[in-house]
Amino acid sequence: MNKLALAAVAALCACGCAKNDGNALKMITEATFPPYEFLRGQEIVGIDVEICRAVAEKLGKDFKCETVDFDSVIPAVISGRADLAAAGITVTEDRKQNVDFSDPYVTTGIVVVYSKANPYTGPEQLKNKRIGVQGGTTSETYVLEQLGQEPERSRSPAEAVAALKAGRVDFVIADIDPAKNCIMGEADLALSGFVTSEDYAVAIRKGRPELLKAVNETIAEAKADGRLAKWIADYTAESDALKAK
Ligand code: ARG
Repeated sequence: MNKLALAAVAALCACGCAKNDGNALKMITEATFPPYEFLRGQEIVGIDVEICRAVAEKLGKDFKCETVDFDSVIPAVISGRADLAAAGITVTEDRKQNVDFSDPYVTTGIVVVYSKANPYTGPEQLKNKRIGVQGGTTSETYVLEQLGQEPERSRSPAEAVAALKAGRVDFVIADIDPAKNCIMGEADLALSGFVTSEDYAVAIRKGRPELLKAVNETIAEAKADGRLAKWIADYTAESDALKAK
């Protein structure tokens, strides 16, 4: 097992090792990413949870969901600790080397979160600035590869935005939906337009064609019958209301 996979196992055990319930379909996520996954009290809820729960129903299996740090999400399906990784995961060529992806269920992208006192004007402005990102994400890759510099890593989009508010970073880069949630009610913060275009999909260990097929069918059905649109609307409303509290 590689180092990443070991980290995933450790993280899973830290939040209550799932018993050996062989028949449950296990989803792994990182639940600080509204509206795709967030905590309602102790419960992990969101669009990705509904997609994976619908896959479990299709397969006639019980359903379990756990949250770990985002860097540990993909390693958990590689090591077999979980069946489905769904965490607003962007399909990338690098990740495709290690896992299979379902068909995409959303097309979205990353944006720059900035303080109105220091308005964002364009990518050239990001050079040599302190840029906050959630660790392990495509926002991190953007800073490393497109800007050629080291980002300031946080464990969640909200933590990165808190660093911006506290003046510890100059900008934050994050996926648009959690970014929108983070700046709700923050009169001093604003978002740029899209910096990238990205597709979210469910990640599965390579060589599980039946599972992949069930996920793709579930996504196609949920798109066609309006469930996906309803999940997006309902969980956006719920996570916005939670943030407004
Ligand atoms: N879409 C980005 C990526 O795949 C960020 C995903 C972060 N997801 C999460 N649940 N924290 O890298």
